[in-house]
Amino acid sequence: MNGSSVPGRQVDVVPIGVTFELGPEETLIAAAWRSGYYWPTVCGGRAECTACHVVIEDGAANAVPPDPVENLVLAPVLAKRDPQLTIRLACRLKVRGPVRVHKKAVRQRIGGTPFIA
Ligand code: FES
Repeated sequence: MNGSSVPGRQVDVVPIGVTFELGPEETLIAAAWRSGYYWPTVCGGRAECTACHVVIEDGAANAVPPDPVENLVLAPVLAKRDPQLTIRLACRLKVRGPVRVHKKAVRQRIGGTPFIA
């Protein structure tokens, strides 16, 4: 995880309405954890569970393309969803510019230790 953020690498998350600034090699889920937010996961950010997946609502061209592992893990999810949707794993998603994603259940962490992969 790279904790230094770069202006322009913002990811807006709805419906909660929070914006995370990502470092150049930082994933969305890592930025959320660094910022003190809970993000749904079962595997702890290891690209195994798909619980972290998001729908990109805007700025998909600013997302770094998925790697083969992400494509493989997401295949069962994509098979069940509208092919028009752009779905990505938050634990793999890096961005080069502004992006807006939809993800339910993201919330400010109330207590406990953040999940750090
Ligand atoms: S956190 Fe499990 S696949 Fe992303």
